[in-house]
Amino acid sequence: MDEPDGWYAVALGADIEPSTSAGTRLFGHELVVWRDAAGAVHVWEDRCPHRGMRLSFGFVRGDHIACLYHGWRYDAAGQCRFIPAHPDLAVSPMIRTRTFPCRERAGLIWVRWGSTADDAPEAAPVEAAPVSPLRSLYLDAPAARLAAALGGAGSDGLARLDLAGSPVLVAVQPLAAAASAAHIVVPAAPEAPTADLARLAAACIALRRTIEGAAP
Ligand code: FES
Repeated sequence: MDEPDGWYAVALGADIEPSTSAGTRLFGHELVVWRDAAGAVHVWEDRCPHRGMRLSFGFVRGDHIACLYHGWRYDAAGQCRFIPAHPDLAVSPMIRTRTFPCRERAGLIWVRWGSTADDAPEAAPVEAAPVSPLRSLYLDAPAARLAAALGGAGSDGLARLDLAGSPVLVAVQPLAAAASAAHIVVPAAPEAPTADLARLAAACIALRRTIEGAAP
């Protein structure tokens, strides 16, 4: 599948709490999204350089993430700093994971993808207006179909949608050729009543059914 350069939302910020990690995909590539104890987010290839275990199964300690399998520990730059089986070893700088520029804006975690991914632009093209997280929807539908159903995204990477009478912002994540995710936030509604968010969450489910049922 095509992998256009750009910024892509890969999670709701609220879903990645401090000292936790989660696996996701972008264009079929496995990624780990993790947040260190200080709150900074990181997006890496979801693969330990040792024997390939998913780092999303690992443990976050402070500003490091440790692999579940043999405990190799990586710092926030992706450099392996500690190997438990050889605690006195000065770890080679060659042992490092692949990392990607990432940002947290508009309640979403964004990763810069593409051939220029190492040249991180200063800011993801996303407004910084206050938002409330709603939910992430995972669809058995290509990202292009999802984006078309949403009417396309603005220059900030977000589609505007009226959902059950309420405006929402939606970012599309191409998971794989026939799978996508929609990360949905509610603009400027930090005190939205729970019942209202529940109504919107139900509308999200209906939206997913509509898009998955649409003709390819
Ligand atoms: S596979 Fe990760 S430490 Fe061995």
